[in-house]
Amino acid sequence: MRFIGNKENLVERIWQVIQSKKIQGDSFFDFFAGTVSVGKYFKRLGFQVFSSDLLYFSYVLQRAYLVNNQEPTFKSLLDKIDIKTNFLLASPLLLVIEYLNQIEPVQGFIYKNYTPSGTFELDRPRMYYSDENGKKIDAIRQQVEAWKGESLINENEYFVLLACLIETVPFYANITGVYAAFQKKWDIRATKKLVLRPIESIKNKKENYSFNENSVNLIDKITADIFYLDPPYNQRQYAPNYHLLETIAKYDDPEIKGVAGLREYSKQKSNFCNAKTSLEELSLIAEKANCHTLILSYNTEGIMPQEKIVTTLEKYGKIELVEFDYLRFKSNNNGDAEAKKHVQEQLYILTKF
Ligand SMILES: C[S@@+](CC[C@H](N)C(=O)[O-])C[C@H]1O[C@@H](n2cnc3c(N)ncnc32)[C@H](O)[C@@H]1O
Repeated sequence: MRFIGNKENLVERIWQVIQSKKIQGDSFFDFFAGTVSVGKYFKRLGFQVFSSDLLYFSYVLQRAYLVNNQEPTFKSLLDKIDIKTNFLLASPLLLVIEYLNQIEPVQGFIYKNYTPSGTFELDRPRMYYSDENGKKIDAIRQQVEAWKGESLINENEYFVLLACLIETVPFYANITGVYAAFQKKWDIRATKKLVLRPIESIKNKKENYSFNENSVNLIDKITADIFYLDPPYNQRQYAPNYHLLETIAKYDDPEIKGVAGLREYSKQKSNFCNAKTSLEELSLIAEKANCHTLILSYNTEGIMPQEKIVTTLEKYGKIELVEFDYLRFKSNNNGDAEAKKHVQEQLYILTKF
């Protein structure tokens, strides 16, 4: 998924660094999980994984990829629904996806607030999704909730289906990268008919745990060999930039406002989006973390200066810095333009006393 700071293309290098430094362990805390790229990678390696994020849509992904440890069978559901498909040998998930791809569109919260026909009365009708795709997102989201309410799907199956929707909708969003603004003209991607995509189930034989909390509040509750910290790098809060994914995941009819139809996010603000509070928070985490190794991902453009990070961390152990050049997606503040940019990615490795 396109997400600011997604480590999908970096996680293998992070693992190489862990191996080259001979950092031992079999449990891993993905402290700022986001898209769960890092947690997924370490789960595949066989680590027991803990994860958390302030964003609920991230929690949906965490539950589907990390906590869920089996291929969903949809045992109770499959007898009850009539699936029109030619793929009789398809997996249960593919059958359910096929069913959801054929359901009648409905005019729900997404259609009414984020499509041009649903918002025609506004001075600037919102063009996040085409009318048809907005209705389709509503229909799928409502159906999944109804199945859960009727106990036709279990918790894991519920989160797997929500994760399929969360992974699918960005491909049809009429945005340049983040949801803080929609484009004034239709991007070709957004005009295509939405087709729900399946996600992959990852299995390891461990109990993995995920949370939708401020991770700092979990610091006394979680013990793991490695804590991996990938906090926001600048003042931009994540919640307003991904508000629509949050609303599709929660589907809680929030009050929204402004041209972009933003939901309230005061409880989802991160202290890492402020230079002073981020250093205080980092210090607290490094002091209290129940781990032998803490790895902080950061980069040379971040609001915490390198020398301050080093002086903060070295109070709690031996510190090493690994740097590599990385081509990163960058979107400007009003979302109108984007560019690829070279930045120096950094890993601060703290071996605790
Ligand atoms: C740089 S992104 C992480 C990217 C992630 N590693 C990935 O590969 O997708 C930072 C994440 O930290 C989350 N976040 C910020 N402050 C947090 C906090 N105090 N507790 C939990 N999550 C937080 C944000 O919501 C965001 O998803």
